[in-house]
Amino acid sequence: MQIKVKGRASGKLQTINVSALELELSLLDFLHQHEIPIASSCSGKKQCRKCVDSSGVLTCELKVADYLDKTIEFDYL
Ligand code: FES
Repeated sequence: MQIKVKGRASGKLQTINVSALELELSLLDFLHQHEIPIASSCSGKKQCRKCVDSSGVLTCELKVADYLDKTIEFDYL
């Protein structure tokens, strides 16, 4: 199980392996734990909207399990 993270600004594509223990984490928390610098000023309370991906999805609103084997993109990474 893995999630790919693409930065449109840098052109970098990172593949992060996902363990079974991480499936219920929010995508935001998971990315932070793997040192991906996703913007956030409300710490995942769904208020600041800074954690959006390139398609406008709030990463604090989704679970890791929702993004398995998908690529998530961020304009500013
Ligand atoms: S971290 Fe603030 S809305 Fe997601």
